[in-house]
Amino acid sequence: MTHKMKAVALRSSALAIVAALSASAAGAQGVEVTVVSGAVGAAVANFDALVAPWEERTGNDAVLVPMPASTSDQFGQYRLWLAAGNGDIDLYQTDVIWAPQLAEHFVDLLPHAQEAGLIEQNFPSIVESQTVDGKLVAMPIFTDAPALYYRTDLLEKHGREVPTTWAELQETAQFIQDAERAEGNAEMWGFVWQGNAYEGLTCDALEWIKSNGGGQIVEADGTISVNNPQAAAALEMAAGWVGTISPEGVLAYQEEESRGVWQTGNAVFMRNWPYAYLLGNGDDSAVKGLFDVAPLPMGEGEGATSAATLGGWNMAVSRYGDNQEAAIDLALYLGSAEAQKQRALNEGNLPTLQALYSDEEILAANPYFARWVEVFQTAVPRPSAPTQANYNEVSTLFFTAVHSVISGEEDAATALEDLEIDLQDLLEE
Ligand code: GLC
Repeated sequence: MTHKMKAVALRSSALAIVAALSASAAGAQGVEVTVVSGAVGAAVANFDALVAPWEERTGNDAVLVPMPASTSDQFGQYRLWLAAGNGDIDLYQTDVIWAPQLAEHFVDLLPHAQEAGLIEQNFPSIVESQTVDGKLVAMPIFTDAPALYYRTDLLEKHGREVPTTWAELQETAQFIQDAERAEGNAEMWGFVWQGNAYEGLTCDALEWIKSNGGGQIVEADGTISVNNPQAAAALEMAAGWVGTISPEGVLAYQEEESRGVWQTGNAVFMRNWPYAYLLGNGDDSAVKGLFDVAPLPMGEGEGATSAATLGGWNMAVSRYGDNQEAAIDLALYLGSAEAQKQRALNEGNLPTLQALYSDEEILAANPYFARWVEVFQTAVPRPSAPTQANYNEVSTLFFTAVHSVISGEEDAATALEDLEIDLQDLLEE
């Protein structure tokens, strides 16, 4: 594990030096606050700039320890550290789904967030997602709702429209892939997404199932709903993409692998989160200026809808950390308008603070944000609230079953029948 050593005096910003000097003149000793966070997109590269204003103001240091990109891997590691009462880590960047499972290990941030005026600035549903028995388990720092990324140049060249159903997507993806390959573009694929057996597949597969009228795995009232024909049809549909419009390799893709194929210009469509938007328009991107985003396609039949899985990240203060007071202050800073605006401008993350959706600079950098307020507010939650402490296991059973279908090991009807039994064993005992 890399542990970055930093010295305030080495900071390029003159302000930092002034702040550090005045802090030491007052006799205050800055502390080093350690933050663990997954390494996706530009989050790690941008961290120093993100926390610089806080460091300057407080004389403290924030040190990021990068974790694996997979939220499933992070969860496993964090749970071990928390169970052992690890004092070395002050702040955990936590996924929206973790609050009920990890609540006991974190400090209640509600009084602090109230004092900072952050509760009323946030979307109430986001605060709600991080609240367990009245305790604010983590401070929201950004929310997440995926998009269908599409190549405007390729759709135009081949005279095609943005698909609004999965059937249209499949047809368009195949058509353009075939035509491009016929022109010698041998690496071109129709659609890239997240097919690895991890939490990200739970998100993708929940979208296929929900959009096809097949429910949301475990419903809000606790009913296990996943074993139904519309869910099975949705999984069979996705299985049919592998090796046709999607590379076999998609079975091992997480977000960053899909973005890799997309950003080198080798995919017509991509399912991904908002973070891929600014990176795709970066100077080193082959698709700069050549794409746009739309809501994910709908399925077919009764209850068909466009469905986006609700994601998002938060900052939780460990009860066992050595620097609790400074850690709380940093969590509040990372949840503040100042930091969320920086994140929106530099990383393209969706803010959790309502006012930032009318911030002109943010909208200029991410023109689609205005449309995405509705998408994330109507996004489908994963069943972490109804399954509480069992969520991680529910999700693992689900993505394992889905992976066996999309990799052709099992048919969807059998996989979902077995999954239902496993979920009953887990949840109904
Ligand atoms: C994104 C989402 C997060 C989700 C993860 C899955 O990071 O914000 O909620 O669990 O993707 O890979």
